[in-house]
Amino acid sequence: MAKRKTKYVCQECGYETPKWMGKCPGCHNWNTFVEEVVASQTSGARHTFQVEGSLKGKPEKITAIQSEREPRVTTMMPEFNRVLGGGIVPGSLVLIGGDPGIGKSTLLLQVSSQLADKKLNVLYISGEESARQTKLRADRLGVTSDNLYVLSETNLVDIGNQIEQLNPGFVVIDSIQTIYREEVSSAPGSVSQVRECTSELMRIAKSKGIPIFIVGHVTKEGSIAGPRLLEHMVDAVLYFEGERHHTFRILRGVKNRFGSTNEMGIFEMKEEGLREVSNPSEIFLEERSQGAAGSTVVASMEGSRPVLVEIQALISPTSYGNPRRMATGIDHNRVPLLMAVLEKRVGLMLQNQDAYVKVAGGVKLDEPAIDLAVAVSVASSFRDQPSRPDDILIGEVGLTGEVRRVARIDQRVKEAAKLGFKRAIIPQKNLDGWTPPDSIEILGVNTVHDALKATLGGN
Ligand code: TYD
Ligand code: MG
Repeated sequence: MAKRKTKYVCQECGYETPKWMGKCPGCHNWNTFVEEVVASQTSGARHTFQVEGSLKGKPEKITAIQSEREPRVTTMMPEFNRVLGGGIVPGSLVLIGGDPGIGKSTLLLQVSSQLADKKLNVLYISGEESARQTKLRADRLGVTSDNLYVLSETNLVDIGNQIEQLNPGFVVIDSIQTIYREEVSSAPGSVSQVRECTSELMRIAKSKGIPIFIVGHVTKEGSIAGPRLLEHMVDAVLYFEGERHHTFRILRGVKNRFGSTNEMGIFEMKEEGLREVSNPSEIFLEERSQGAAGSTVVASMEGSRPVLVEIQALISPTSYGNPRRMATGIDHNRVPLLMAVLEKRVGLMLQNQDAYVKVAGGVKLDEPAIDLAVAVSVASSFRDQPSRPDDILIGEVGLTGEVRRVARIDQRVKEAAKLGFKRAIIPQKNLDGWTPPDSIEILGVNTVHDALKATLGGN
């Protein structure tokens, strides 16, 4: 019998070496190598799969290729459909990542049940819970569909056989970290297992045209367990996030071969499952204390949709040591930068002040158009002077204190007007080329200084 060959694989980045090493030359992490058995050579072509319908090895003119668009399968949750770019694409492999307990299983069970109600055969494979446990959850969610099949299984070969037999129209694998292939000797959840199982699932999805959703756990560091590799293999990656103590959950697209990324769907975790939030702006502004110093509202684009959120700042004198600069929900490098601009260009003495900036409601914003709102919040808290509660602030701030043009100003202002805001302070350069709604006054500003004068008064 041939000697079993083993190799060492870095569990962070997938780097392979024949000998154990303390530090990975690939990602420079320590103690990440785990011994794994090299799979037998007979399956040398395992990593390649044939995409259905493609002609083997013969180039075609792009204009000659039929582009019949396969209809997408939609759920009854428009938020979910939108994040996917308009519904589920047949034959796609989608990864849903998120912290344990955030509601991934709940979301996918609800999606499964809705698809089953549309007369689609759905197979929900749970490697983490028994069929009975899944049933308990289903009862809680009020699932009563005859076309929803539950299977508690972790062996990929058996899973493949069951899919073959049932020929479902939609498959959920909960979770990829519990599934294993026997030929790969390392433990479920290891890099090799995750990689092998995913490529096999990819093959099943593509060859049969079945959309498969896989659940992936997230590590402490915030990426999907098993390496980045997994994200490259699938068609779309969605993150389900939110704070445990808030009931809001956000489904965010980070990669999508069939639609735009950075779409966001907002849900609320209720006693009887997840419910969509179709008016996020109202929800995010619900708890705003109007007329408080340090609070402003910005219209931020989340994918194709404007969302209004409150930006809060608290500036207080540093008692000892270096001043603290803390930011929640926005890039923490932006805060010191904007404070430096306020100090240098507006003359606010902020260097001996602690600063805490927070996006209310547990949302994360990562676009420059929120700069102006952050700057005004900081100045408002510093001067202890509230801005008008019906003001909305939109604009990117440059290092010379100039307020720069942002994209999609019309949509942002329209959303603000819809929610009753009376005045929009926007970049001067954004004034032309569109007509604002009548109910809202538009004020163009060139610099942060102008914006502060308009909102907080003084000079
Ligand atoms: P779950 O879907 O099991 O999370 P994940 O699969 O991401 O680990 O969700 C678990 C949490 O959701 C749990 O703390 C209970 C809560 N929950 C509700 O509040 N309402 C519900 O209807 C359900 C099913 C769960
Ligand atoms: Mg789960």
